[in-house]
Amino acid sequence: MRKLKIAVQKSGRLHDDSMKMLKEVGIAIDNGRDQLKASAKNFPLEVFYLRNGDIPQYLLDGVVDAAIIGENVLVEKGNTISIVEKLGFSSCRVSLAIPKSETYVNIQDLNGKRIATSYPNTVNTFLKKNNLEAQLHIINGSVEIAPNIGLADAIVDIVSSGSTLFKNNLQEVEVLLQSEAVLAVSPKIEKEELAILNKLQFRLQSVLKARK
Ligand code: PRP
Ligand code: MG
Repeated sequence: MRKLKIAVQKSGRLHDDSMKMLKEVGIAIDNGRDQLKASAKNFPLEVFYLRNGDIPQYLLDGVVDAAIIGENVLVEKGNTISIVEKLGFSSCRVSLAIPKSETYVNIQDLNGKRIATSYPNTVNTFLKKNNLEAQLHIINGSVEIAPNIGLADAIVDIVSSGSTLFKNNLQEVEVLLQSEAVLAVSPKIEKEELAILNKLQFRLQSVLKARK
C-alpha cells in the first residue's frame, strides 16, 4: 500500500506541536523519536524526522511528499514550494535587531553595516527591496551573540517570546517576515499520495476549525 511520506522537524521548536497535531487528527505514530522514520498505525503515512534546514530540498527533490515546517524556512530555502495549510502554531517573526545602546532612526541606518544571520536569502531580499547595502556574516546558531563579540552591528534572526533579544541587550527594529508552522507539499507529489494528503488536510481543517 502506498503511504504519504511526511517530514517533521527532528528536534526543536516545531517537533512537539507537530506530533501533537498529528495525534489530534487521530493519527497514531509508532515511536521511537530516536528512529529517523516512523509509521502510522491507522493511516497510510510515514513520518521522517529531519533537520529543519534540509526539509525544503527534500520537498523539491520529492524525497518526501509533504512537510510540517516553519514558513520562514520555506521563504529562506524553498520559495517555489507550495503551502497548502497554515497550522496556527509556532508563530514567530524574522526580525532585525541592533544593540539597545544604539539609536535607530530609520532603515537607512543599516547601510554599510555588518549583519549576522542564519537567513541570508531573506536578508538579501530585504536589502534589495530597500536599496541597501550591507555585509552579511552567515552563522548557524546563537546569532544574537554576534554584536556582543564584535562580529556584527546588527542581527537578523527568529523572534518568538523576545527573551533571547532581551538577554543579549538587543532591540528589535524591523520585522522582515511573520511566520508560523505550515503544511507544505512537494512539487513532485504523485496522485496516490496527493489523495492521502487531501484526507489528512481535511482532518486538519476540522481540528483547526474546532480551535477557533
Ligand atoms: C531560536 C532563534 C532565536 C530564539 C528566539 O534559537 O534562533 O535565537 O530561538 O526565541 P525567543 O524570542 O523566544 O527567545 P534557538 O534557541 O532555537 O537556538 P539556535 O539559535 O542556536 O538554533
Ligand atoms: Mg537562536
